Amino acid sequence: MLSMKKFIVVIVILSVIAVVAYVKLSAGKSADPRGPAYAGSLTCARCHSEVYHSYLHTAHYLASSAASSKTVHGSFSAGSNTFEFDHTRKIVMQKKDSGMFQTYFVNGKVKESHRFDIVFGGVKGESYLYWKGDGLNQLPISYYAKQDEWLISPRYAPEVVDFTRVITSRCLECHASYIGDQPDAPQGLDGVELFNKSSLVYSVDCERCHGPGAQHVDFQTHNPQIKTARFISTYASLPRARKIEVCAVCHSGNKSEMLRSTFFFKPGDTLAKFKIAGFYSQVNDTSHLDVHGNQVQLLQSSKCFIYSKMDCATCHDVHQNQRGNVAFYTQKCLSCHSAANHNYCKMATVSNSALIKSNCIQCHMPAFASQAIVAPNMNKTYSATIAVHTHHIAIYPQEAKKILLMFGK
Ligand code: HEC
Ligand code: HEC
Ligand code: HEC
Ligand code: HEC
Ligand code: HEC
Ligand code: HEC
Ligand code: HEC
Repeated sequence: MLSMKKFIVVIVILSVIAVVAYVKLSAGKSADPRGPAYAGSLTCARCHSEVYHSYLHTAHYLASSAASSKTVHGSFSAGSNTFEFDHTRKIVMQKKDSGMFQTYFVNGKVKESHRFDIVFGGVKGESYLYWKGDGLNQLPISYYAKQDEWLISPRYAPEVVDFTRVITSRCLECHASYIGDQPDAPQGLDGVELFNKSSLVYSVDCERCHGPGAQHVDFQTHNPQIKTARFISTYASLPRARKIEVCAVCHSGNKSEMLRSTFFFKPGDTLAKFKIAGFYSQVNDTSHLDVHGNQVQLLQSSKCFIYSKMDCATCHDVHQNQRGNVAFYTQKCLSCHSAANHNYCKMATVSNSALIKSNCIQCHMPAFASQAIVAPNMNKTYSATIAVHTHHIAIYPQEAKKILLMFGK
């Protein structure tokens, strides 16, 4: 038998555990800087573990992160850690106890040194930001994955070494999930935006695309017997235009005039309330391809889009990394264009059908050099082209010729 004393001790211990757990839970709930309506991606992982873990391998997860030796991919080894502007000026990437730095030397003397604080990207390239007080600046040297090299950041002139380019919340609206401004600081001086540093939510997270989820989490937690979703928008029930706009928030170009921040855009909202429409419909000719992309307008100008009900999720499962998976994308094309439904490629003959099938994208959504990630005025020797697939799905006779030549057909 448990003595009364022991019984009380057990009760006390249990209550302490319960209180600690409760405090932790409620702290977890109110911890999201976007407010109590948001739960944070880690909370979603509790029930959507598979989706969450596969999402960790996607570009959206990589869109921004804290700088660390895991997220900065360029080399810090002597010999490959230097970017030389000319024989007197260079920037050296250095690892110190206090972090990783870009240090600017003129004739061997240190002029300036700033820490890698935030990383943008991790697919085609990476750009880095550093905190200057409560403001953010871009570092002049970026990393280009294809070349595995440090190169000058996009739109920097190679003659000028500049650590002063200001980053506003506009960049973070597409590359992160939230950052708030300093409530009391005077904003707008020299275009510098002063942030509440601790409010930064990295990555394009679950709730950027699904909307605030705390009420959904609450409901499903307290009603585990209910297997259908409540209090979260159902993508499938949105009309096509609203579906596309979930992606258009970030994939319809960055040259728009903004009416308000897109951080609180939720599925079902109309984008016109956030961005001015005239700017929103950007050029759709492939000579203006840009990673800061206009995938939405390009797709909308394609016959595939006009004559079907497709949306972005027809070809992209955004929870998975499908980069370079040609076979997967070909299957998507063939789901509408099969030999059986008489809308198959006329190029295909019995003898080349294998070749045709593995190259739909190269001929009909060819990759062209992006105009914007690489500075047009950049010195030739630094030049690095980044290719982006056009979403204007069409017939490109020149590209078709190239592919056929490549295969000796
Ligand atoms: C306590 C468990 C639980 C948590 C935590 C949870 N969900 Fe869910 N969620 C469910 C259940 C149950 C369903 C319905 C079954 C299904 O679709 O998996 C669901 C469905 C969904 C759906 C599909 C809706 C539809 O019908 O199309 C989305 C989207 C979703 N959840 C997003 C989230 C997000 C975002 C988070 C984190 C903010 C989250 N969930 C956290 C239990 C949970
Ligand atoms: C909040 C902004 C935002 C939203 C909303 C968004 N994306 Fe993205 N997307 C990005 C950014 C930023 C990148 C590039 C990230 C990187 O490379 O680091 C990206 C990359 C991608 C890629 C490239 C993947 C790769 O592996 O290279 C695809 C495909 C994509 N997005 C599709 C979509 C689709 C489909 C939707 C809508 C369901 C969507 N995105 C919604 C910001 C967004
Ligand atoms: C309108 C949304 C938007 C804005 C604003 C924006 N970006 Fe992007 N950015 C994207 C998307 C989308 C991609 C990826 C496109 C792709 O994969 O082709 C991208 C790609 C990148 C990449 C390459 C990432 C990679 O993994 O290859 C870098 C670096 C980058 N952006 C930096 C910036 C910086 C710095 C700013 C602010 C000066 C900025 N972006 C503003 C949407 C945006
Ligand atoms: C870039 C936008 C984007 C991000 C980020 C994103 N989702 Fe989704 N999610 C979608 C879209 C679009 C669909 C609908 C896909 C469809 O219907 O084909 C979807 C569907 C779902 C579904 C229901 C269908 C399924 O695939 O199981 C769940 C659950 C879900 N998402 C959970 C999450 C969770 C959890 C996260 C974060 C780990 C997350 N999503 C991140 C865009 C996104
Ligand atoms: C959701 C269905 C659907 C999907 C998926 C789809 N298409 Fe289409 N596509 C269509 C329809 C419908 C048309 C218009 C047919 C017509 O003109 O009769 C079309 C037209 C085309 C055309 C003719 C374009 C022109 O300007 O003449 C090409 C080429 C094409 N598709 C290639 C592709 C490729 C490559 C893919 C995969 C990356 C793809 N399609 C995916 C439905 C689709
Ligand atoms: C007909 C199929 C199809 C549809 C629909 C589609 N995409 Fe894509 N998308 C592709 C293919 C194919 C690639 C190239 C993938 C690769 O090489 O890994 C791609 C690549 C991308 C990329 C990376 C850019 C690059 O090539 O470097 C982004 C961003 C993207 N898509 C966004 C979108 C958005 C946003 C939508 C909706 C407006 C959309 N996609 C609709 C087929 C499609
Ligand atoms: C070697 C380049 C090449 C490849 C690979 C290729 N196509 Fe085509 N495709 C063309 C050309 C060129 C045309 C226009 C031919 C014509 O009209 O004679 C065309 C026409 C089309 C059309 C318009 C309908 C028609 O027959 O005129 C569709 C749809 C299409 N292709 C789909 C596909 C799909 C789906 C794939 C992959 C399974 C694919 N193509 C692979 C070059 C290619």
